[in-house]
Amino acid sequence: MVSQAEIQAMKKALKLAAYGRGSTFPNPMVGAVILDRDGNHAGDGFHRKCGAPHAEVIAIASAGDASTGGTMVVTLEPCCHHGRTGPCTDEIIRAGISRIVIAMTDPDPRMSGRGIEQLESAGIEVETGLLSGKACELNRVYRHYLETSRSWITLKIALSLDGRTAAADGSSRWISCDKSRRRVHRKRASVQALLTGAGTVRKDDPELTVRLTDTLSDRQPVRIVVSSTGDFGDSWKIFRNPGRVIIAVPEGVAVRLTEYTSIPGVEVWEFPADPGIQGINLSALFERTASEGIGSILCEAGSDLSSRLLKDELVNSVSIFTAPLILGGEGRPAFERLGIGNIENVIKLENVSFRRSGSDFLTEGCVVYRTD
Ligand SMILES: NC(=O)c1ccc[n+]([C@@H]2O[C@H](COP(=O)([O-])OP(=O)(O)OC[C@H]3O[C@@H](n4cnc5c(N)ncnc54)[C@H](OP(=O)(O)O)[C@@H]3O)[C@@H](O)[C@H]2O)c1
Repeated sequence: MVSQAEIQAMKKALKLAAYGRGSTFPNPMVGAVILDRDGNHAGDGFHRKCGAPHAEVIAIASAGDASTGGTMVVTLEPCCHHGRTGPCTDEIIRAGISRIVIAMTDPDPRMSGRGIEQLESAGIEVETGLLSGKACELNRVYRHYLETSRSWITLKIALSLDGRTAAADGSSRWISCDKSRRRVHRKRASVQALLTGAGTVRKDDPELTVRLTDTLSDRQPVRIVVSSTGDFGDSWKIFRNPGRVIIAVPEGVAVRLTEYTSIPGVEVWEFPADPGIQGINLSALFERTASEGIGSILCEAGSDLSSRLLKDELVNSVSIFTAPLILGGEGRPAFERLGIGNIENVIKLENVSFRRSGSDFLTEGCVVYRTD
């Protein structure tokens, strides 16, 4: 049985955990609250970034002596192994915590239940599963990485009412309203990298930066652009703004890109050309991004790259802005042929949310691919 105070504490712990979004990867986001013997809030903490102290340790330090005999409410099973920091289970036992309420067990195979076993063996009462759905959702990037070794990809796209993303001549750089575009900047700020294709770079010369006000924000996500040719026309903005830029191309193309690689922050990643397609294996790209600490990527591309990502089943979630305008059949369709053919094969969304965004309509959800 959990108390009302513990439920409130878990809600707070989940909120605290979310402050680590975008900086804890490959670690999970974790928040912890300590209640004293009488059920009063005594301290709290969250995991700020990879390599920094864990939420449990910060919460114990902030609660001081009130930890003894108290309850820890934490969003994830405490770790029991030596990583960059020591095991949290040892700290919890040492602090004299008598009860612990955990939202979800850790899917990391080094843990998955072992932390709970250690706490129970030390005589601590353990309760699991409180608000576990919310905790699982919060750590979807972390869970996806443990399952696939790849980054989590969110596809953002702006559509007309008739499902077009651009006018035939490419003159429709912005389809969505001001409010939606401001929302997109907030989304950009919450991920570790932004991805686009060379087609969008050539047509729109985008900056692909976070501008929450009129100026560039301090923390800029990595900018990634994929190309099979290394041809970016006269576009420069994406390469010139401060920050890290990755140009992902097939082997042999890097030699054509020296004018870009001389710009500070710009690097080229070469991948073996993928037989059968023009370009690189995008799955290999996302394995490399994950291995370099990039957990979440927002893709803002045209229909070519967006379609390839869907075809390769690499899109994990979507944010689709629908604007009240019609571009007609001559406009660029949002997606090219995906080989769906039959209604049985459609790509579906789950955990869907709908909301108004200024004069647009925003649909968001996680992508479900046919499994057989
Ligand atoms: N409404 C929206 O949300 C939205 C968002 C972005 C863009 N757009 C519009 O979309 C239009 C551009 O569309 P698009 O389809 O040409 O652009 P795109 O999808 O952004 O870029 C396509 C290019 O990406 C590269 N690429 C794709 N897959 C690759 C792979 N596996 N390996 C290596 N390179 C790969 C190729 O570059 P290379 O040609 O160099 O091989 C390809 O030509 C513009 O008019 C723009 O305004 C609309």
